Amino acid sequence: MNPVLIGGAWPYANGSLHIGQIAALLPADVLARYFRLKGHPVLYVSGTDCHGTPITVRADREKVSPHAIADRYHREFTDVFTRLGFSYDCYSRTDSPKHHRLVQAVFLKLLQKGLLERRTVKQVYCPSCNRFLPDRYIAGQCPHCGAAARGDQCDACTSLLNPEDLLDPTCQLCGQRTLLRESEHFYLRLSEFQALLAAQLDQCGDKYRPNARQETARYLREGLQDRAITRDLDWGIPVPLPGYENKKIYVWVDAVLGYLSASQIWAERTGCDWRQFWAQGAQAWYVHGKDNIVFHTLILPALLDGFDPELKLPDRIVSSGYLTLEGQKISTSRNWAVWAADLLDTCPADSIRYFLISNNPERRDADFSLQAFLASHNGELVGAFGNLVHRTFAFVKKHRDGCTPNELCDPAIRSSIEKTYSDCDALFAGAQIKKALERIFTLVRELNRFFDQRQPWRTRHDDPDDCDRAIATCLHGVVNLAQLLDPFLPFSCA
Ligand code: MF3
Ligand code: ZN
Repeated sequence: MNPVLIGGAWPYANGSLHIGQIAALLPADVLARYFRLKGHPVLYVSGTDCHGTPITVRADREKVSPHAIADRYHREFTDVFTRLGFSYDCYSRTDSPKHHRLVQAVFLKLLQKGLLERRTVKQVYCPSCNRFLPDRYIAGQCPHCGAAARGDQCDACTSLLNPEDLLDPTCQLCGQRTLLRESEHFYLRLSEFQALLAAQLDQCGDKYRPNARQETARYLREGLQDRAITRDLDWGIPVPLPGYENKKIYVWVDAVLGYLSASQIWAERTGCDWRQFWAQGAQAWYVHGKDNIVFHTLILPALLDGFDPELKLPDRIVSSGYLTLEGQKISTSRNWAVWAADLLDTCPADSIRYFLISNNPERRDADFSLQAFLASHNGELVGAFGNLVHRTFAFVKKHRDGCTPNELCDPAIRSSIEKTYSDCDALFAGAQIKKALERIFTLVRELNRFFDQRQPWRTRHDDPDDCDRAIATCLHGVVNLAQLLDPFLPFSCA
C-alpha cells in the first residue's frame, strides 16, 4: 500500500479557531483515519502559522511580544484539535528552530540556482516610526473614489489598491505622513515554473477539487508572475544573508514549507523515514480552505521543485468553500462566529464532527445554524445511528444476558455491508467525504428498517431462531459500522 502524506492547513496564531476553519480542516483528519484503517502508512502533519502581520498587529495592541501571542494560540489550537480528535502525527509550529533552518536552506538553494532575483521597489515608509509599513498600517484616500481607505483595498468602491497610490497617506501607528522609500527585495521567478506547474495540473487536476482546478488553471492561463518573497518586517524568518538583517521571508513561503519541516521533525522524533512520504510513489493530499488554493497548487510545488526535484509535489487538493453562520459570513472582527473551544464545552466532539462533515462546504458554501445542528444531532446521530446501536445492545443485554447469538448475518444485509465498503472506497478516492458519510448512513437506516421489520421483541416468543438471526445481523451491522464510521466519529466508534 502506498504511503499517504496528508497536509492540513496551518491556522494563523492571531485568533481563536472557529467552526468555519474546523470545517475546512476536518476532512484531513477523516482521510488520515480512513487510510490508516485501510493499512496505508500515513503521515498527517500540520502546525501553527506563527508569523505574519496580523500577529504583530495583535501583539502591538496588547503590548506583548508576537512570540507570546503565537504561544497563546498555539496552546489553544493544540487543545482544540486534541478535543476534536484530530490525529496529527506531528503538529508543529513555524517559529521552531528546525523550521527556520529549513526555510532558510530552501531560500539559499533557490538563490544559488538563480530562481530568486533581487529587485528594488518603492515602498511606504514612516519616517517618524522609522520603518516600512505593512499594508494594513497605511491609511489615506482611495485614488479612485476618494473615500477613506486603508491598506490594499477600498471598502467603498472595492478596488484593489497599491498602498503606495493612496492619497494623503498616513501611518496608522503614529498618525504622521508617510513617504515612499526604495527597498530591495527578493522575487521568486515563478515564471520559470510555468511549464512544470501546467504539466502538474494536466496530470493530476482531476484529483483536485473543481475550485482548485479552475483557479489554478486561470493563473496559468494568465501567465505566472514573479512574486516578492521578502518583506520589511521584524517578525518572521530572517533572510539568511548579511546586509538583509531587517528583512524577513514572506509568511506564505514560510508556512507552506511547514509540511516538509514537520515531516522531518516527525522523522526525528520517531526514528522513521520521512522520505517515503515525499517520494514519487506516495499520495500527497493537501486540505485547506479555498483562499489557500494557489499557495498549495503553485507556490508550494515551485518551492519544492526548486529545492529538491526528487520531492513529491501535491497531487490531491481538497479545498473547501466557506461555512456561513446563520446565513451570514463568519467574521472575527465583527465577532460573528462560533468558537470551536466554546462549542466543545457544551457538545460532544463527535456531534460537531458529524455536523461539519454532513454539512461540509465541499463543493459549495454551506451554513451552520443552531437549529440545523440540533436537528442533525437529534435526528441523524442519535435518532438513526445511536438508536440502532442502543436497541441492538439493549436487546442483547436484556433478553440474552449479554450473549451474542451463534448465527450468521442475513445474506442480503451482508452484501449491503460489503457494498458500503466498496462504495466508500470509491468516494474516498475522489475526496467525496460527505457523500461517503451519507452512504454509510443509508446502511444505518437499512439496518434500522431491518430491525423494525424482523420485530425481534415479538419473534423472541414465537420464533426464537428467527430472533437470533435478526439480532446476529444487527450486531454484525453495528460492528461494521463501528469500523466504517470510525474516521468520522472516532469517540463513539471506540
Ligand atoms: N495560515 C493560513 C490561513 O490560515 C494557512 C496556511 S496553510 C500553509 O489561511 F500551508 F500554508 F501553512
Ligand atoms: Zn508612523
